[in-house]
Parts: sequence; C-alpha cells; structure tokens
Amino acid sequence: MHEDIQEVLFSEEEIAARVAEIGAQITKDYAGVVEQDGQGIILISVLRGAAIFMADLAREIKLPLEMDYMAISSYGNGAKSSGVVRILKDLSSEVEGRHIIVAEDILDSGLTLTYLMKNLASRNPASIEVATLLRKKTLAQAEIDCKYVGFECPDQFIVGYGLDFAERYRNLPYIGILKPEVY
Ligand code: XMP
Ligand code: MG
Repeated sequence: MHEDIQEVLFSEEEIAARVAEIGAQITKDYAGVVEQDGQGIILISVLRGAAIFMADLAREIKLPLEMDYMAISSYGNGAKSSGVVRILKDLSSEVEGRHIIVAEDILDSGLTLTYLMKNLASRNPASIEVATLLRKKTLAQAEIDCKYVGFECPDQFIVGYGLDFAERYRNLPYIGILKPEVY
C-alpha cells in the first residue's frame, strides 16, 4: 500500500467485480432501447477523474456504444464545489435524440452533476442516466437521481482509480482514504 494512504476502501478486485456488475446491468437495461433505436449508447465521462472508470465500464457493456468526453472546471473557493461550472472542453458528438449515460467518479454535494445534467438536457437527448463509481454519504446529495452507483463511501478525501489529490494518485489501482496530513 502507498505510504500516503490511510485505509484501502475498495481493492482492485472489488472494483473490477462491481464495474462488471454495473456493466451487466446497463447491458440488460439498454438492450431493448439500442435495438429499437438503431444507434448505440453515448457514454460520456467528465475528465479527468472518471476516465479510468469509464474505460473499464465501457468494456463491460456488451452493446454498441460511443465514448465522448467533457472537461469542466468549477469556480469557487477551495475544497467544496460551488455548482458554478465552466466548460473547458465540450462534447465532440451531437447528442440530440441519443441515449446518454454520464460516467462520474464521485458524487459529493452533487452540484457539479446537477449543472451538467441541466446542460445536457438542453441538447434534447432521448434519455440521460448517471453511473457514478462512488457516492459520498452526505445529506446534500440525497435527492440526486443516480441510476447506477458503484459504492457508497465515507465523507473523507478519497483517491485512486482515477481520483486525485493535486493530480497525484490517479494511477493507484485501488480506492483509498488519503491521510489528512498529506493535504
Ligand atoms: P460535487 O460536490 O459537485 O463534487 O458533487 C464532485 C466533484 O468533486 C471532486 N471530489 C473529489 N475528488 N476525492 C477526489 O479526488 C474526493 O474525495 C472528492 N470529493 C469530491 C470530484 O472531481 C467530483 O467530480
Ligand atoms: Mg480532482
């Protein structure tokens, strides 16, 4: 284990098993939709944290799909997100009439996702659902409608498997709690 990690929450094996389950569930849920629609799903990941999750999830969905990326930056001071978001990189594809699944790394206050959902909905997709790898146990995001959730996690600073602190630790194969003395 990395010396900056206080506790491993989810091992590489646990993550792989859960991602496979979510992929199988999506495959089941969207098989009919994709057949009827004649077009695949569009998986969208929010850079950069969700890129690793989406790459693994995509390979567990046994249906035609496209992958696209958005980069956003939230304004505001410090560690808590303000919900005011700026788009740094927009999608490459048109999503009107398409079935979108947004892959997120972690849902904390839910403000970032709320903004993103509004923005995507304004482009008139056929449907939008969210697959988040992690959801923090906080009251604030209780009302966020998220169809696929990998794991519930404690309200601490989490890194690994795409999640960073100051751009580090994204390449840890497991998910863990960062030691408070590191940040
Ligand atoms: P909100 O509060 O808008 O924030 O739901 C979601 C975004 O905040 C980042 N975030 C974290 N990143 N470890 C991280 O590496 C964490 O524990 C953490 N909590 C929130 C993340 O970018 C997420 O998309
Ligand atoms: Mg980050």
